[in-house]
Amino acid sequence: MKLIAGVALAAASLGFVGAAQAQTKEVQILHWWTSGGEAAALKVIKDAMVAQGYSWKEVPVAGGGGDAAMTALKAMVAAGNNPTASQMLGYTVLDFAKQGVMGDLTETAKAEGWDKVVPAPLQKFAVYDGKWVAVPVNLHSVNWLWINKAVLDKIGGTEPKTFDDLIVLLGKAKAAGVVPLALGGQNWQEATMFDSVVLSTGGPDFYKKAFNDLDDDALKSDTMKKSFDNLAKLITYVDPNFAGRDWNLATAMVIKGDALVQVMGDWAKGEFKAAGKTPGTDYLCVRFPGTDGSVVYNTDMFAMFAVPADRQAAEVALAKTVLSKEVQAGFNINKGSVPSRTDVPDTNFDECGKKGIADLQKASAGGTLFGSLAQGYGAPPAIADAYKDVVTKFVHGQIKTSDEAVQELVKAIDDAK
Ligand code: BGC
Repeated sequence: MKLIAGVALAAASLGFVGAAQAQTKEVQILHWWTSGGEAAALKVIKDAMVAQGYSWKEVPVAGGGGDAAMTALKAMVAAGNNPTASQMLGYTVLDFAKQGVMGDLTETAKAEGWDKVVPAPLQKFAVYDGKWVAVPVNLHSVNWLWINKAVLDKIGGTEPKTFDDLIVLLGKAKAAGVVPLALGGQNWQEATMFDSVVLSTGGPDFYKKAFNDLDDDALKSDTMKKSFDNLAKLITYVDPNFAGRDWNLATAMVIKGDALVQVMGDWAKGEFKAAGKTPGTDYLCVRFPGTDGSVVYNTDMFAMFAVPADRQAAEVALAKTVLSKEVQAGFNINKGSVPSRTDVPDTNFDECGKKGIADLQKASAGGTLFGSLAQGYGAPPAIADAYKDVVTKFVHGQIKTSDEAVQELVKAIDDAK
């Protein structure tokens, strides 16, 4: 098995592709898109590939945030069993690229003019050593609140503008006997929420210094301590069964009106859409209070692997399809994200999607577009893992105070560097 793959890869690296080579019209995709909204979005790409005569094989590995998927992928790649493409987050793409296992889509990128339409912060993770090794499928942002409108009205609440407003609002829900904050107590969800808390507590410059530049002074500052204090406040509003809950089940609590609000990336909007809910009427999408004007992003890349010569044409077709304007619109409308190219009209997006697109434009122009540390765009995977570990220990009481949390964070990031 290994030998066959090795020979095939050698052929691939010689650029052995052409009319003489019989092509296998199949693509294999590894991903962690197993919720309703995610599946609906992925189907848009699948249908577009099937319409071009390709057969579509999926390797789904459940688990939001993708940790389980990346473990499965590493095993496949070690066995020489590369999929055509894998869903992947930022710095992980660069790690795989360093190992020399990625394909090279540069010629296609040139022909399609991707460098002109894909925003520079995404190219930073799609291009390695001058070669296109991945295609960005979307752009998600994490600093959102998803609020059930009927519950909000019932408790006489209004959209929170500040962190303190949010705490007051959560208190109202609690008093009314509704679960205030729907959270899944898994490390990646908690850390994704903490990204927003840090941005809200410290502001854009602080977020960048701490979570993109890994500046030691910012990491050990009083502002970071205050961020943990604020996280502790939020955690008093979750229900007793939150530990281990999947993110989409937390979203379902808000959709059904069993909970008031979820703090989550805009993949949550895909769940509202799949449930037939309308923004403005059934639910509200508002920026996490105190973060308006900034966008903390992550992008799902399709990292394109080196594949045998007979599979390269299918890989190119997949990459072109993912970045076509039609698929970009169809996919992202279902996913809750915004297009990863700048020239897709917002016409068919709902009001949250339109807001997402407008916010992204403002943040790119204003220098307030930041990578999510929890979602693989702030720092390499070892550091992101260290971060998630400290946050989850704090949330679940293994780290008891904010002072201790700050010390542990500084140490864990230092050790992981
Ligand atoms: C991905 C999203 C996905 C979410 C939950 C995130 O890491 O970027 O595409 O929907 O995890 O599975």
